[in-house]
Amino acid sequence: METLSEIYNFAFEFGLERNSLIIALGGGIVGDITGLAAATWLRGIEYIQIPTTLLSMVDSSVGGKTAVNHPKGKNLIGAFHQPKAVFIDPETLQTLPKREFNAGMAEVIKYGVIKDKELFEFLENENNKNKLINLDNECLIKIINSSIKTKSHIVSKDEQEHGIRAILNYGHSFGHVIENLCGYGEFLHGEAISIGMKIAGEIALEKGLWSNEELIRQDNLLKSYSLPNKIPKINKKEIITILMGDKKVRDGKMRFVLPKGIGEVDIYDDIVDSLFLKYFS
Ligand SMILES: NC(=O)c1ccc[n+]([C@@H]2O[C@H](COP(=O)([O-])OP(=O)(O)OC[C@H]3O[C@@H](n4cnc5c(N)ncnc54)[C@H](O)[C@@H]3O)[C@@H](O)[C@H]2O)c1
Ligand SMILES: [Zn+2]
Repeated sequence: METLSEIYNFAFEFGLERNSLIIALGGGIVGDITGLAAATWLRGIEYIQIPTTLLSMVDSSVGGKTAVNHPKGKNLIGAFHQPKAVFIDPETLQTLPKREFNAGMAEVIKYGVIKDKELFEFLENENNKNKLINLDNECLIKIINSSIKTKSHIVSKDEQEHGIRAILNYGHSFGHVIENLCGYGEFLHGEAISIGMKIAGEIALEKGLWSNEELIRQDNLLKSYSLPNKIPKINKKEIITILMGDKKVRDGKMRFVLPKGIGEVDIYDDIVDSLFLKYFS
């Protein structure tokens, strides 16, 4: 909120008008806060996203969700505000720390599981894995393109998340629990999502939605980008509090995105607490 307030001060100082435009150059945090500043300054001015992390290229720069955190929860203060344009140059990834790159891969793998079997298989291929780890431009463009295609396709059908857009939250309910309760900073967003996908995958296996082999394929892919899958110890009462405070609750019911196979997910509101609490022992 303090940084947002500083942006408003600059906006005032520089005399930004209704037809002015703000450029968000940076990662997802810069994109989210700039988008919110643009959404609210003078009741909304235009902005452009120039994402410089893998996560912001494949996810946060596209779709128009803008937000800042509240001490009680992540992204509680925000608005839907579409950028005028998104410019992506994969060259910027050359300077991105490896850990940040891998965290972005968690979102790419997410697209594979929720909607894009072909992308998932592309990522499983050893040759492609090596190329991606070495930041091969052609491979990067391929996975960034596929990811954005899936995201923009889903968002264009349901911009304000009344239905299908929620599938983009695969791994995010438990991911947000982990980010919240382990303190922001312990896990990067993508790392928390990786553990969230692991938990969702386990629940799906137990419910007979997908096979053990599919769960192992997801595990292996996450592991090959050094993403964590070990579930941290967390107080169980706090887990429920965070889940109930999450934006994914509707009519008092928690809703979970679970995989039915590689490339297919669905939304379930019949998951009893005991089914997931046991993973947090
Ligand atoms: N709006 C959405 O739809 C949406 C979707 C997913 C995530 N998010 C949000 O995005 C945020 C995470 O974004 P992120 O992963 O980009 O993290 P980030 O913005 O914190 O950037 C990660 C780090 O990399 C540095 N950095 C950025 N670009 C660099 C480059 N090219 N070279 C070297 N260093 C560079 C940054 O200074 C920062 O230290 C989270 O707050 C998450 O909630 C939003
Ligand atoms: Zn995410």
